[in-house]
Amino acid sequence: MMKTIVLANQKGGCAKTSTTHALGIGLANRGYKVLLADLDAQCNLCDYCGVDTENASATLYNVFHGQATIQDAIVNIRLGVDLLLGDLLFTKADSEFVQIGRETMLKKTLGTIQDRYDYCIIDTAPSLGILLANALAAADGVIIPLTASRFSLKGMNQLSRFIDEIREDRNPTLKINGVLLTRFNKRTVLNRLLLDEVQQSAEQLGTKLYKTTIRQSIVMDESQVMQEDIYSQNSSIAEDYNNFVDEFLEDEHGDK
Ligand SMILES: Nc1ncnc2c1ncn2[C@@H]1O[C@H](COP(=O)(O)OP(=O)(O)OP(=O)(O)O)[C@@H](O)[C@H]1O
Ligand SMILES: [Mg+2]
Repeated sequence: MMKTIVLANQKGGCAKTSTTHALGIGLANRGYKVLLADLDAQCNLCDYCGVDTENASATLYNVFHGQATIQDAIVNIRLGVDLLLGDLLFTKADSEFVQIGRETMLKKTLGTIQDRYDYCIIDTAPSLGILLANALAAADGVIIPLTASRFSLKGMNQLSRFIDEIREDRNPTLKINGVLLTRFNKRTVLNRLLLDEVQQSAEQLGTKLYKTTIRQSIVMDESQVMQEDIYSQNSSIAEDYNNFVDEFLEDEHGDK
């Protein structure tokens, strides 16, 4: 059975897309079969994977409209990794999908491919809308990437309420796997001061702060421009993400 994990935070630029990609590729490097899913109209995950959604024959948007099957909207990007394509038309999702069952479109369609992958990792947009609701309704777990700043901490309460609502209505077993500090700089006093606060916020959400932090590094931007995965260079950020994937898997094995 496929396990579905969502990267969520309505604050922009906290490394949801970067972490979706790094987690997905990291799991594939360890032998798991992975489906990456792009639920953001910005289609950054598709860009990062070098896939142009505008010329695609079908996207997840078409699947939601009943115009294509999920298989039509999936492309293989490398050994063991497929990508479910997002769509620029997702900008209209909140006003367009108004039917009953609008929050379980993704859950239904992913249900048909449960035996093909070990993990589905979903990238979401920086907003609390219908697409995030779909991702959360379909998911087993949520990872919240967070950059250390006061503003991001404030947003956590809103996100937490949103997750609670989905839990009540659609997905009672949805769990928050953890909060991951990204673009972190151990050397700044501000970042160190915020560590305690982030730890407390995570506990309030009933989850943990990952021991691993992902450092701020120019290698991230470079790898995205080059459309290379971060593991292709022996960088310190690759080491961080490898530690994170290992920590994620330790929890997975502990759960069983
Ligand atoms: N650890 C890091 N060090 C330096 N830059 C990073 C790091 N992680 C991500 N970035 C950069 O920060 C920017 C935002 O990252 P990313 O696109 O992953 O965030 P996001 O949460 O998906 O953003 P959005 O909310 O717009 O979808 C990108 O330019 C990315 O290259
Ligand atoms: Mg993104």
